[in-house]
Amino acid sequence: MKTIAVVNQKGGVGKSTTCMNLAGGFVRLGARVLLIDLDPQAHLTYGLAIQAHELDHTISDVLTGKKTITEAMLVRGSINIIPSSFKLDETAKRLLALEDRNLILKNAFEEAEPELKKSKEIHYVIIDTPPSLGLLTQNALAFAQEVFIPVQTEFLSLHGLGRLIEAIGIAKEKLNPKLKLSGLIATLYDDRRKLNREIKAQLKKRFRELLFNTVIREDTALAQAPGSGQNIFEFAPKSHGAEDYMNLCQEIIER
Ligand SMILES: Nc1ncnc2c1ncn2[C@@H]1O[C@H](COP(=O)(O)OP(=O)(O)OP(=O)(O)O)[C@@H](O)[C@H]1O
Ligand SMILES: [Mg+2]
Repeated sequence: MKTIAVVNQKGGVGKSTTCMNLAGGFVRLGARVLLIDLDPQAHLTYGLAIQAHELDHTISDVLTGKKTITEAMLVRGSINIIPSSFKLDETAKRLLALEDRNLILKNAFEEAEPELKKSKEIHYVIIDTPPSLGLLTQNALAFAQEVFIPVQTEFLSLHGLGRLIEAIGIAKEKLNPKLKLSGLIATLYDDRRKLNREIKAQLKKRFRELLFNTVIREDTALAQAPGSGQNIFEFAPKSHGAEDYMNLCQEIIER
């Protein structure tokens, strides 16, 4: 089981889109995936068309110890999800008082290990995080083996990156020695825009092989797919978005 956290404290850079479509791509390649929606905005949850009546159990119940990972998991064929809801905001505030507040998700997975072993094997756990470096993101960093950072190829995108990489370093040192920053993913890219080309070149210069060769182009199908409760491979399998996310999945596997 490979665990991946998708992190960037900057909002709207493609974190949720990347989680959703990495999951879709890995499933196309024959894997089973568990998505964890660790964002009170619940974009992944909406993007999978989870209905209100299915939100009896959410990630909040896992973090407060009311449900185990397997109890809170909704099975959707090869893509399972632990959904989120706006309540997670309140939950996160309450959990701040706990001493081991950053290790709650990690501990929940450790507890669930025997149960998870009994169910069908999960190859990838992909965690979507909110646009902040707060408790929820810290829990993702404390548990994951790998971090991916989507970076929008826009002005100011490089601005918070230093701080983010520093925060990942601190999490590795204090919470999770096995944590690895696996790569930066350039997103919302349009080759016709000079600024996009320049930012991509700057990313390459600064981060070298840490930047994935695959660039996620801007594609309206990627923005439309969640409205249909589908990932890009279901919604528009011939789109640029599908092509780019499949290439990214393959690049991740090769690495
Ligand atoms: N490659 C793309 N092409 C076109 N639209 C995209 C692309 N990637 C993301 N989007 C759209 O841009 C918006 C922001 O993307 P997304 O929600 O994935 O970002 P995020 O980092 O998860 O945001 P937040 O920080 O609020 O959680 C969404 O409306 C999404 O549909
Ligand atoms: Mg998001």
